[in-house]
Amino acid sequence: MKTSKPQIRAANKASIQEASDIICAGGLVGMPTETVYGLAADATNGQAVAKIFEAKGRPQFNPLIVHVNTVEDVLAFAEMNAQEQALAERFWPGPLTMILKRREDSALSDLVCAGLPSVAVRIPAQKTARALIRESGVPLAAPSANKSGSLSPTRPAHVAQSLGAAVDYILADGACAVGLESTVIDCTGEAPVILRPGGITAEDLSEALGQEVTYDLGEHGQAVKSPGQLLKHYAPNIPVRLNAVDVKEGEALLAFGSVKFMGLQEGGHATDLPEERMQNLSKEGDLYQAAANLFAMMRALDHPENTAIAVMNIPDIGVGLAINDRLRRAANG
Ligand code: TXA
Ligand code: MG
Repeated sequence: MKTSKPQIRAANKASIQEASDIICAGGLVGMPTETVYGLAADATNGQAVAKIFEAKGRPQFNPLIVHVNTVEDVLAFAEMNAQEQALAERFWPGPLTMILKRREDSALSDLVCAGLPSVAVRIPAQKTARALIRESGVPLAAPSANKSGSLSPTRPAHVAQSLGAAVDYILADGACAVGLESTVIDCTGEAPVILRPGGITAEDLSEALGQEVTYDLGEHGQAVKSPGQLLKHYAPNIPVRLNAVDVKEGEALLAFGSVKFMGLQEGGHATDLPEERMQNLSKEGDLYQAAANLFAMMRALDHPENTAIAVMNIPDIGVGLAINDRLRRAANG
């Protein structure tokens, strides 16, 4: 087992070349994307893909997303129907993952799809991700670059903190613009359904398809369509309390919007709290800004001196739905 720290390198021509050499040799690279940092490996190399599962401690039944740069690349291993083509045109490159019918002759490792007849695919927009895919010349399997079940990384240092020496090399390219994992949509059934909410909302998708797109988040006892829905997810090490209207003794506050009316049970006011006990997702109440800040701020409050993280109510509309999905899982974790 390796014990040395992973190399963190600013993304530039030389470091992207070095990272692609590591990918081609079957190694693991921390890759920036517009959503969260990914843990990338050659999706056609079974041993490399197996290392992803090992590094994350991820159950083998939970399949991975394959990242490529063009629709032509997608068609080498998957089929696309008319709806999927329309979504590709509208949202790719970008934070949308589509569950597609997998081609039987595809070169992908079976481990990537966990034996399913489908494959999850995304064309990222982030420039370093695109350069790494181009230089590597292979499709990249990449889950979020964190231990299974813990908070997703939105900064290069988060990747090193979570995975340590299990990742060979980290390409650093700042904070992720979206900050939440991609929206996952499945159009292979009778009606398109969202399996994971994200930065691209049901409203966006409904408008693009000219038909209402609904959620199937594997809750309410419905059949689970996406294995990832089964897992505890996005959890910090301390408890999370939702819809807080006050701050209990010892708790930290994850605020949204104005904290004018937030009192402390121990006396005083939320505005008195130091940074280690209060972060505001968006003082202006902007849901996109809140999404981009969510994981980094939960991390900032996740230390043992705080007894729990109290989270203010976030409106369940648009991208707020994706934020609340992550928060609910964090609270159940
Ligand atoms: O934003 C993202 O999507 C990031 C970046 C790195 O691209 N990746 C990411 O991957 O979040 P991961 O592995 O953490 O989440 C993939 C999700 C899981 O919930 C998994 O169960 C689901 O997609 N999934 C993958 N393949 C699937 C398939 N064939 N059918 C249904 N769900 C699938
Ligand atoms: Mg993940």
